[in-house]
Amino acid sequence: MCGIIGYVGARDAVQVLLNGLRRLEYRGYDSAGICISSAEKLHIARSVGKVSALESGPVLKKLYGTVGIAHTRWATHGEPTQENAHPHADCKGEFAIVHNGIIENYAELKQMLIEKGHVFRSETDSEVVAHLIEEFYDGSFEKAVRNAVSLVAGAFGIVAAHRGENKLIAVRKSSPIVIGIGNNEMFVASDPAAIVEYTRKVVYLGDGELAVITPLGYTVKKMSGEKVNKHVDNISFSLSHIEKKGFKHFMLKEIFEQPESVGNVMRGRLKGSEIKLSINVDTRAVRRVILVACGTSWHAALIGKQYIEKYAKIPCEADYASEFRYRDLPLSKDDLVVAISQSGETADTLGAALKAKSHGAKTIGIINVVGSAISREVDGGIYLHAGPEVGVASTKAFTSQVVALFLLALYIRLQNGGLVPEDAISELKQLPAKIDSILDNAGQIQRIASEIKSASSILYLGRGINYPVALEGALKLKEVSYIHAEGYPAGEMKHGPIALVEEGFPVVFIATKDSNYEKVLANISEIRARKGRVIVVADVPGVALEGMADFIIEVPRTIPDLSPILNVIPLQMLAYYTADLKGLDVDKPRNLAKSVTVE
Ligand code: AGP
Ligand code: GLU
Repeated sequence: MCGIIGYVGARDAVQVLLNGLRRLEYRGYDSAGICISSAEKLHIARSVGKVSALESGPVLKKLYGTVGIAHTRWATHGEPTQENAHPHADCKGEFAIVHNGIIENYAELKQMLIEKGHVFRSETDSEVVAHLIEEFYDGSFEKAVRNAVSLVAGAFGIVAAHRGENKLIAVRKSSPIVIGIGNNEMFVASDPAAIVEYTRKVVYLGDGELAVITPLGYTVKKMSGEKVNKHVDNISFSLSHIEKKGFKHFMLKEIFEQPESVGNVMRGRLKGSEIKLSINVDTRAVRRVILVACGTSWHAALIGKQYIEKYAKIPCEADYASEFRYRDLPLSKDDLVVAISQSGETADTLGAALKAKSHGAKTIGIINVVGSAISREVDGGIYLHAGPEVGVASTKAFTSQVVALFLLALYIRLQNGGLVPEDAISELKQLPAKIDSILDNAGQIQRIASEIKSASSILYLGRGINYPVALEGALKLKEVSYIHAEGYPAGEMKHGPIALVEEGFPVVFIATKDSNYEKVLANISEIRARKGRVIVVADVPGVALEGMADFIIEVPRTIPDLSPILNVIPLQMLAYYTADLKGLDVDKPRNLAKSVTVE
């Protein structure tokens, strides 16, 4: 998510930190900030927006020092404001921290610290770390950080500075931290891209490790205090490569980030059989749910509709936001309108949310970008915490939206006195690992892409909860490869689309085991009978599919309701590899924009 960099040595730390921030900006640019530590005080400069705004600000020009930390923020808790920008300090300005990740138990920690007299200045989760260090400090900076972090639950990469000490302390739990080794100078960052111009010698901090960093070197210890000998690596990537973490395009990087992003949308929200959502709406009074969205987000809405009806037992509609806005649909306070949007800026979805509000409906958002326009208009919501989605074709946001909708349906069920099905929670928790295993199919999917890249048109067919996956697979392909593709309910094929099928015509089926499986097999044989080319996403290929498909892409089994989250992954990859083989600009497809802020 965000970008972190720290420096201790003999150079002008402000320049080193600014250079690093510029390299990290692609990871999120809601705000930026720098802290320079001197004997007298911690000098902090922060600004909303990109690094250039920080650079041109009045405070930075006066800063000089050789020890410092800096941060570009991708907001998860607290809007992108100056007060919420990192670095964050403790009450007395003795300690400053920068944080990457999500602190799940920050609310409890903040309450405990306030009761001890600490005064908070931001809405962020991160600020609690600075006050915890202050609380534990008794002369040892390292011990105070260790004790502070031992209370923190969640994912974090943290770097801390202490007024007057020529030292930085870094701690890692899930979010990456790398130490750069220089001559009588040391660097620390969330991504080697920030420091590669100064050194290629790096040490990657492991989970649960703490590093004490001075100009002369570093010591790495476990949280227990035991020293750890670390292997020194060499950065082999070119800089541009690193910004995409070695992936050729952001779209591919974001497809491969889905084990992490799907984990993030659940983080802190599954507690035993409890679903913890702070949506700020009493759903017990809700008589109808209307999901409004555009494009890929609307495909997520079509899946969410089935979740809401099945688990929350409430009538649910999934409407294109651009249609909903102009419908003469009576709305009331008994309606819950859910605006689903990765960017939170899509004009049609914003318009739909505003219409719902003006008619007295309750409104929530399912959004990735914190503090975006829609998030500021609705009554409450669920942030995806997926991190920046840079590729125009939405991938990780879609799977996170579907998980968020599943959580919402279960949450409403619980609010109305229902119970959460056992297997639902256990299967949710297994999704990241199952997605990981699908990503191993990249080679096979590249081969299939080479087989279809010259097609002029492709059909995607699915049934039930996987019909929206067929729509999403088709949208992905046409968006980035410019091949015409259509998604259809498999049952609809014989009512028209089958006229398209001739020898070699490619048809993609989603055929994972559920109550529709036998019918989908029948649809596959109808295509085979007309010599169509059949590509199947299946979880139990076994005997049933023997000889019925030209290609079978295997995905792990899960409960049918969660199968769209797995089944869409191969289709995202198929679209990506097809477009890449055609030499197209995958991250910026023609005529498209990442966020459609016009109507
Ligand atoms: C999806 O790959 C497209 N980029 C597009 O359909 C997108 O989903 C749509 O514009 C909605 O964007 P939003 O989720 O940011 O509102
Ligand atoms: N959760 C922290 C915040 O919202 C850090 C987010 C990030 O990784 O940039 O400020």
